[in-house]
Amino acid sequence: MTSTSNELAAFAAVLAREAGELLLEYQLKRHELATETKSSPTDLVSTADRASETLVRKRINERFPTDGIVGEEQESRVGTSGREWIVDPLDGTTNFLFGVPTWAVSIACHDSTGPLVGCVLDPSRDELFSAARGEGSRLNGELIAVSERGNLAHALIATGFNYDGDMRRSQAAQLATIIDQVRDVRRGGAASLDLAWVAAGRVDGFYEAGLGPWDWAAGALLVSEAGGTFAHAPSPHGPDQLVATNGKLGAELQRLVSPRK
Ligand code: IPD
Ligand code: CA
Ligand code: CA
Repeated sequence: MTSTSNELAAFAAVLAREAGELLLEYQLKRHELATETKSSPTDLVSTADRASETLVRKRINERFPTDGIVGEEQESRVGTSGREWIVDPLDGTTNFLFGVPTWAVSIACHDSTGPLVGCVLDPSRDELFSAARGEGSRLNGELIAVSERGNLAHALIATGFNYDGDMRRSQAAQLATIIDQVRDVRRGGAASLDLAWVAAGRVDGFYEAGLGPWDWAAGALLVSEAGGTFAHAPSPHGPDQLVATNGKLGAELQRLVSPRK
């Protein structure tokens, strides 16, 4: 029997909640957690990130042993079912380790047609954002929609910075060209939540270069199912730049953040 997108979304939600509970326990002892740096001195990973991914992988293996898995902290597994799970077991690790309550568990599932399910859980606020293809986006079960704002000068835009020092400097220079063109800019510290907040109409757009698929796979579906747009745009920094908006601001924000020709 094949699972429907709604069944997969329900599974992802239960799984995200289980991982969220585990992370909330780790958060209580965050000062004692073992941490290491990864790609740069600012790129942290902790015991909590690893334990969350191990749990999520175990549950996916138990229920869907032939599905593929791409997770941030462990080797990818190629599946045979045609489905793949894309997991950020703790998005916003820096916030988590510093006690800033803006971090998430992000779980997406794709099939051969594309994004099928997206789930982003914010355990600190008890907010579960979830979407299934063709079924809309929901926050704690209620349908959500992107904002209506059509004027970039009035828009609240979220962004983030890469861990690589050169990229960060380039991103800061880019930000200096944007900051007076919009109402204001937010750097929340968890890309999956930035995208979930675009879906919920809390911010009007989001852009960031150099993200991994685990950062955006779930959030991208949340945005498109909530009526917004999600695009890969040329970046002044090299790596792929993502631009998500309420749709009305898509072309204008892409023009603003992409290199001038
Ligand atoms: C990071 C966060 C952050 C973004 C970084 C990501 P992590 O993910 O999403 O907001 O700016 O680019 O790497 O490392 O906390 O999972
Ligand atoms: Ca992440
Ligand atoms: Ca992470």
